[in-house]
Amino acid sequence: MAETFLVNTSISKKEQYKNALLQLEALTEGEGDWIANVSNVMACLKYGFGFFWVGVYLVKDGALVLGPFQGPLACTRIPKGKGVCGKSWELNETLLVPDVEAFPGHIACSSDSKSEVVVPLFDNNQEVIGVLDVDSDKLNDFDEEDQFGLEQIGILISKIITS
Ligand code: SME
Repeated sequence: MAETFLVNTSISKKEQYKNALLQLEALTEGEGDWIANVSNVMACLKYGFGFFWVGVYLVKDGALVLGPFQGPLACTRIPKGKGVCGKSWELNETLLVPDVEAFPGHIACSSDSKSEVVVPLFDNNQEVIGVLDVDSDKLNDFDEEDQFGLEQIGILISKIITS
């Protein structure tokens, strides 16, 4: 198992995500336990990219329930359609939110969270099994390159959880 995860900030963001994905694939191959793997993926994202909060919520009994994460204390359950996470689940699509205060129904787990990206996680039947939630303590901190990069990482996380 790889024991380091490095993000080279002198290359383009697109390349940073590409390299991150390769490293995460190497880190998680050979380990069959999804909680162990997703926990390490969260640690890599948090400390490699310096995100304020990063974690997964998983669909259980009709709600999103907190899974492996890194960062401050978080809400444990989010109903479908509520907040950015619940909305991403309901719509089956990634939501890029530059200002969480301006998002109707945003759930403020932490008042320090200012912008976020939420990526739905799918099973093989294209059913949403959860979401990847990445938060920043700065306004407007994510763009389409983050969205694309995090969607690719979301595909890896979905594979880890469903295999
Ligand atoms: N911001 C999310 C709630 C989860 S936390 O930020 C960790 C939302 O509105 O869905």
